[in-house]
Amino acid sequence: MTKFLVFTDLHVDIMHDGVARMQVILEEAKAQDVEFIIHLGDIMYPDTGFLASHGDLENRSGWFANDRDDEKLAILKMIEESGLRVYGVLGNHDMDSCTKATACAYWGMPAPYYVFERGGLRFIALDTNNILDGETLLDYDHCNYRNFRGGNALTWLGKEQLAWLEEQIMTSSLPCVLLSHAALGDEMLNAHDGPEVWEIVRRCNADRRRVIFAMNGHNHIDGVCVRSGVPFMSVNSASNIWIGHKYDCVRYSETISKIYRHITGCAPYMNALYAVITVDDDAIRVRGVKSSFVGPSPYDLGFPRTASYHISRPCVRDRDLPLTEMEAEGLIDYE
Ligand SMILES: [Fe+2]
Repeated sequence: MTKFLVFTDLHVDIMHDGVARMQVILEEAKAQDVEFIIHLGDIMYPDTGFLASHGDLENRSGWFANDRDDEKLAILKMIEESGLRVYGVLGNHDMDSCTKATACAYWGMPAPYYVFERGGLRFIALDTNNILDGETLLDYDHCNYRNFRGGNALTWLGKEQLAWLEEQIMTSSLPCVLLSHAALGDEMLNAHDGPEVWEIVRRCNADRRRVIFAMNGHNHIDGVCVRSGVPFMSVNSASNIWIGHKYDCVRYSETISKIYRHITGCAPYMNALYAVITVDDDAIRVRGVKSSFVGPSPYDLGFPRTASYHISRPCVRDRDLPLTEMEAEGLIDYE
């Protein structure tokens, strides 16, 4: 049996209360006595000192207000003081202000995609942050994805990583859990080669169940879909759902909206969201957090239901997922 906490998309560079949310998450991790923590990307840009020491400061770029080094350093200190190991995957915004090598170094990752084994499981951390430019696969790097918007150029694993994934599954003596930032199971805001992952899972699980679960961040929603008999869970953001400046709304104060200029384009959650997950011999037990929106919900403001694969809700719902092959295929909804 193993027990860990997962959170994602804290977006310290968008929110004014990222430090407080991180504190709640770490306190809960300690209170629940988890063995380790996983984050699924888009936590925060590296601080200025780190960027400078990795030669990334001269090429300063980024979408968000990325100058709150006090917040970033406080979060790093809290993580260190917690004594808990935090394993990460790269989010699409993690290279906004740097290279992939710098982003990996910041989060203590050996490579953009890698494996780690904890609690009797092999976790396979994938990198969905690649641009398919014709036949060439490019790394996300200093917001270069801005030049490739429209069409399907963004968000690929790529053939090499897919081959590596299959090898990691097939050579594992432990059950495997797939981790990614962009969804592999959903059909919106997903990695375009998700269907090839389903095929790999189908092949690898044909004689025995090697892949038991997959988790992603990025889409800031809570939901599960089943691919090749395996549950793929979208983990909700710790902070908000991005609905865009079209639906701008001052939810905290004019001052906060000026300093954190993208916070008005979000529907923030009142509480930090995360999930504590226990894997035992019978099930994958997800225990989440229920919260509320700060101010109007996305749908109150006219955000279309069709803009996200799962319904936008300010929660991670509790769910027990089986370790045996699931019969459903595609989107399922657990209440
Ligand atoms: Fe993201």
